Amino acid sequence: MDPILDRCSIRHFKDRKLTEEEIQALLRAGFSAPSARNLQPWVFVVIEDPIKIQNLRSFSPYAGPLESAPLAILVCADQHVNPSLDYCQQDCAAATENILIQAKAMGLGSCWLGGYPNPERIDKIREWVGLPEWLMPLWVIAIGQPDEKEIIKNKWNDQKIIRL
Ligand SMILES: Cc1cc2nc3c(=O)[nH]c(=O)nc-3n(C[C@H](O)[C@H](O)[C@H](O)COP(=O)(O)O)c2cc1C
Repeated sequence: MDPILDRCSIRHFKDRKLTEEEIQALLRAGFSAPSARNLQPWVFVVIEDPIKIQNLRSFSPYAGPLESAPLAILVCADQHVNPSLDYCQQDCAAATENILIQAKAMGLGSCWLGGYPNPERIDKIREWVGLPEWLMPLWVIAIGQPDEKEIIKNKWNDQKIIRL
């Protein structure tokens, strides 16, 4: 099993809470990401309370994976660290992909649920999570023990390679 090549989105999860060790391993992977000027502008909001996860579900019509997820990580950009938010999406996307790959390496499944820059989704997350102004909510990662067959896609595409 290769955690990068064999990762795929998982949208249904078993009813098992993640351990604190698992959560910390996922966060450590996120914190290990590269970031522009090494600003590390991310803040990870860890949500384990099933009621809070269900409340968050309606932030997007495509957030169905939160229905069974025992863990949601809301990825935010810290505007105290970087007021202009330049490069924050890239930085936080790198951290997010690290978490997805770490989840796979640990036998867990995950799904990235898009939010930013959709203004309605940002407002809904702000409203439900009660974030301070200086935190920009970007997106949510649903994580848990997979409860579906993994469908690994072969995305290799010769036509998307240019050799100079
Ligand atoms: C920025 C971004 C936003 C996404 N938003 C959603 C979403 O809202 N709901 C969802 O079920 N999947 C979402 N996905 C997962 C994609 O649908 C998925 O990565 C894509 O279909 C490729 O499948 P794979 O992850 O299995 O390789 C998102 C992925 C990215 C990178």
